[in-house]
Amino acid sequence: MKIAPDLADEDIVAVAKLVLKMKLDGVIATNTTISRDGLASPIQEVETAGAGGLSGAPLHDRSLEVLHLLHPVLQGKATIISVGGIETAAQAQARLDAGATLVQGYTGFVYEGPLWARRINRALK
Ligand SMILES: Cc1cc2nc3c(=O)[nH]c(=O)nc-3n(C[C@H](O)[C@H](O)[C@H](O)COP(=O)(O)O)c2cc1C
Repeated sequence: MKIAPDLADEDIVAVAKLVLKMKLDGVIATNTTISRDGLASPIQEVETAGAGGLSGAPLHDRSLEVLHLLHPVLQGKATIISVGGIETAAQAQARLDAGATLVQGYTGFVYEGPLWARRINRALK
């Protein structure tokens, strides 16, 4: 099951409980966000870009927060794939430290190119 970062904290916890109840293999957290909070770009520019999900840096903090909500409930009983704004090895390590089984990068890969995953893996090693 993949989780939206825009869910309320209590709903994230409810989803985690449901994952255990339904004996799902795991969760991917998170998808892109519909939030426009805390962006550096001028509001006019943001509005012109239109609706849709944001990925990458604006998602980083909330994605980590969601992981902090999921891990205490799942406690290793379900796989957690953490994704959202991971660009550096330190950020990937922080997700592992916070209980992620695996980490995923999408936007980091797009902007940093095909060797990005190798750089992250080597730094983690
Ligand atoms: C262009 C684009 C297309 C995406 N398509 C999908 C999709 O088809 N299914 C899905 O579950 N997530 C999709 N995502 C969400 C990503 O898998 C990921 O959860 C999200 O972008 C946050 O990670 P990131 O900050 O590393 O990009 C897409 C993201 C982007 C930017």
